[in-house]
Amino acid sequence: MRVLLTGAAGFIGARVASALADADHEVIAVDAMLPAAHGADAEPPAGVERVDIRDATVLAPLLNGVDVVCHQAAVVGAGVDVGDAPSYGSHNDYATSVLLAEMFAAGCQRLVLASSMVVYGQGRYECPEHGVVEPLPRSRTDLDSGVFEHRCPVGGEQAQWRLVDEDAPLRPRSLYAASKVAQEHYALAWAEATGGSVIALRYHNVYGPHMPRDTPYSGVAAIFRSELEAGDVPRVFEDGGQMRDFVHVDDVAAANVAAVEAALGGFEAFNVCSGRPISILEVATELCDTRGDAPPLVTGQYRSGDVRHIVANPARAAEVLGFRAAVDPRDGLREFAFAPLRG
Ligand code: UD1
Repeated sequence: MRVLLTGAAGFIGARVASALADADHEVIAVDAMLPAAHGADAEPPAGVERVDIRDATVLAPLLNGVDVVCHQAAVVGAGVDVGDAPSYGSHNDYATSVLLAEMFAAGCQRLVLASSMVVYGQGRYECPEHGVVEPLPRSRTDLDSGVFEHRCPVGGEQAQWRLVDEDAPLRPRSLYAASKVAQEHYALAWAEATGGSVIALRYHNVYGPHMPRDTPYSGVAAIFRSELEAGDVPRVFEDGGQMRDFVHVDDVAAANVAAVEAALGGFEAFNVCSGRPISILEVATELCDTRGDAPPLVTGQYRSGDVRHIVANPARAAEVLGFRAAVDPRDGLREFAFAPLRG
């Protein structure tokens, strides 16, 4: 297939480009080379063309004869502050709206969209007394006294995490999350209006070689690795019991190949995860142990806005896309302990 790949110079996009080429697809690789992600004045790597897809006149000719667009380009992470809002709106949402309009003009009917677990907000919880509940936000009193679990809105019991399915409500809690939900909604509306097909891949915590170093936009794996490289120990917030699903970048690339090759109609969303939940303390400990460094420091500090647990159900991606992650996070994190970082 002829695939237009956006964000092709990024940590994930570069691996998707290789995986698509290995699967004998023809890849047209583009990237805006945003300074926040690549540094000032960075040149695109070999085989990648510098294209800002917000520019319809540059984008339109690239869509000639394209079967599928694999859209990885995005401003990611939590950002610095609300001043980042126009950047998320412009690069994630306006860019997607231009892409969809130009796909329509070119008669390109298929989109694979990089989405994120952040669309689910705080995740899924069950109270031992009252079943599945939408938990209360964590109170300052609880957090300050070291009670990090969510409480049941009915009786105040501590709620337990459960796997999040794709039909969970979308409840964005950050600018980045809002921009990802909006991207999904634009894509869904485009599919309805044009009869096109969209596969939204909701990535969980992606890690792996060439992950960008610690920036205001980085997730915890890059922060821990950067701390270790600086001769410091990882600082684990709360009690380290926060559960996540760490998925290796090569598995994310494989999920994209499966999505590019899938013949589905309408809008479909899938969790892209390893299916093997791991705590943040375990992640830090695995990295420290592998490197032979001192153990992590559990600080008991907390960040406002952090999600306590977010753990995905991998079943739907396996059943419908045939995607199953190959890398167990315990193995992948041992490799990541020494893997090269970018930037
Ligand atoms: C992160 C990203 C999110 C992205 C998702 C999937 C941020 C803030 N969030 O979500 O945008 O979509 O991964 O890739 O970038 N922690 C520590 N020590 C630290 C930093 C963090 O213990 O130095 C803890 C946090 O308290 C949190 C957990 O690690 O409980 C994960 O943090 P982080 O990776 O920043 O956020 P996610 O919610 O997993």
